[in-house]
Amino acid sequence: PIDDFTRIEDLPDHVDETVTLKGWLHNKRGSKGLYFLILRDGSGFVQCVAAEDNLDDTSWTAADDASQEAALAITGSVSADDRAPGGYEIQVSSIETVGSSGDYPITPKEHGIDFLMNNRHLWLRSESQWAVMRIRNRTIMAIHEFFQDRGFIQMDAPILTGNAVEGTSTLFELDYFDDQSAYLTQSGQLHGEAMAMALGKIYTFGPTFRAEKSKTRRHLTEFWMIEPEMAFYDLDMDMELAEQFVSHVVQTVLADCKAELETLQRDTEALENVQAPFPRVSYDEAVDILRSDETAEMIDERIESIKQEKEDLETEKEENQKERGQAKKWRKRQIDQREIEINKRIDEIEEELRNLPDWKESAQTFEWGNDFGGSDETVLTWHYDRPIIVHRFPAKIKAFYMKRDPEDDRLALGMDVLAPEGYGEIVGGGERATDLDFLEEQIEAHGLPQEVFDWYLDLRKFGSVPHSGFGLGLERTVSWLCGREHVRETIPFPRTIGRLHP
Ligand code: 4AD
Ligand code: MG
Repeated sequence: PIDDFTRIEDLPDHVDETVTLKGWLHNKRGSKGLYFLILRDGSGFVQCVAAEDNLDDTSWTAADDASQEAALAITGSVSADDRAPGGYEIQVSSIETVGSSGDYPITPKEHGIDFLMNNRHLWLRSESQWAVMRIRNRTIMAIHEFFQDRGFIQMDAPILTGNAVEGTSTLFELDYFDDQSAYLTQSGQLHGEAMAMALGKIYTFGPTFRAEKSKTRRHLTEFWMIEPEMAFYDLDMDMELAEQFVSHVVQTVLADCKAELETLQRDTEALENVQAPFPRVSYDEAVDILRSDETAEMIDERIESIKQEKEDLETEKEENQKERGQAKKWRKRQIDQREIEINKRIDEIEEELRNLPDWKESAQTFEWGNDFGGSDETVLTWHYDRPIIVHRFPAKIKAFYMKRDPEDDRLALGMDVLAPEGYGEIVGGGERATDLDFLEEQIEAHGLPQEVFDWYLDLRKFGSVPHSGFGLGLERTVSWLCGREHVRETIPFPRTIGRLHP
């Protein structure tokens, strides 16, 4: 091995041995002659017990001086201890300071989101962000495994493109040479279609860009998309692949990221249910569901139940405050920590209570032909216990390349996978149009320049076949898996309309 130290995640293999760990000081508690140091090294967290009696002066001074995020090399013996966080503990025999740390800005107290985002480069070191980034990593690997096991070829679509894919309103344009314009890609799909005609089944995995001008919890301007494209697949096959794919990713993360999900206090029950098949709901049916009395009742029930939850939380808070006066130090900390959680949840509830009347209005007055808003998607999924696939949308609200439904020319053979628990659309895709004349018409009707699509139209001239595909948004998927409210926490350095720094 290259490492001359042990990783925290490997401690179970070293019980009763002496090891050296290298990492950063996450937290420190202590009293006279004794410190409990929580060390983190990226692979995990472990409590190290440093007793003055067992250490030489240099080591004890290092323990004494170490403040949050100091880099340390700690040597000691490993013991298994069920009471210790993570199940293992280090009895320290020596400590060396690798890099000291000053007034670390991110303390265990509560910070506002802008502060945390401005300090994203440091915030990444927190326990919650550690968990999110590891789940993102496992998700990425599960995606590759899924496609590689099924004979798909990974392709890299270009990032600089000469054509729009998903409409012109969200294009990032830049100067290319000789007065040409280029765009940052919105989607690798069109190039993926070319590659599918060459290699059969492909998937792209790359960054995509959209100049999203509104701030929402689901939109980034730079996000990662996975786009499979399959020759000889129709819409039904496309939906079947999407549900197997999403189930695989969710079940893999559930199985392999238990510690991370627990750190995030993710309620995993709803994720256990994510097993194919997912209910198929046509757009027409979805509209009826939104306008139904049942939906209105569900929203009313939701209002009542979160009002009750808020009351219960407020009672708990009062009782905790009464106890706090006489409580021991550790219990005080616990109460303060819990209060942060309670306040956060109460804020969420209050926001939802403000929004629910509008959600109800939007659902009940929904008009055929419109696109679903975020709240409509949320309410729709309340009717089911797992993700759903909505299919056959009005062609008017979909991209130029979608095939029309042969049964009803107003409809496009598109499909969206909607995640439950308010996470909304995680997948968009469908069957592609193959008719050359139809595509030429559509390009014109969508106000797109014919000449940049010549290569795309060639695909319909030389052995054109039925084909389908879809795109999964990585950050939306990870935020759902992690139970995080906002996509900005699921990418290391998020880019949104007001954020290019750090
Ligand atoms: O539904 P979209 O726009 O579909 C496409 O781009 C197709 N070309 C995909 C295909 O058929 N190959 O985007 C696909 C997914 C969405 O369902 C969502 O998960 C994610 O990409 N997405 C975003 N994620 C974060 N921020 C944004 N601004 C996003 N826009 C789309
Ligand atoms: Mg979409």
